[in-house]
Amino acid sequence: MPDEKTSSAETLREAAFSAMENAYAPYSRFRVGAALLTSTGEIVSGCNVENAVYGEALCAERVAVAAAVARGMKEFVEIAIASEADEPAPPCGSCRQTMSEFAPEMRVTSYARNGKHATWRLGDLLPEAFALNHLRGRP
Ligand code: THU
Repeated sequence: MPDEKTSSAETLREAAFSAMENAYAPYSRFRVGAALLTSTGEIVSGCNVENAVYGEALCAERVAVAAAVARGMKEFVEIAIASEADEPAPPCGSCRQTMSEFAPEMRVTSYARNGKHATWRLGDLLPEAFALNHLRGRP
């Protein structure tokens, strides 16, 4: 029997792949899904949403964070990212910054379509992140 942690990681992985199915990526043809696990045990997902004005593309991770915040959830434990790449795709710099605003030490796991995956701590992906304390001139 899988323990609770394994089964929640599995549920999160499935939610990320399921969100990937809704990706709107006709330009890059690179579909991405993301699923956030909140501190209250809820899962909020997102997918990338592209636009004819290429630069307006939204990444899956930031869509998931915005969806969670819009629903009143700001504490995140973990994020699963799914893509159709052959290797686990690490989150882009903008997504690292956005995730860091709410959960600087969150676990980030990225899955490739063949099941390969990689896990990082967000603080390792974005050390020395700019944050509210810097804005206020505090250490
Ligand atoms: N993309 C994501 O959704 N997340 C990332 O972290 C990297 C890139 C999307 C944006 C764009 O729609 C497509 O992947 C190609 O860059």
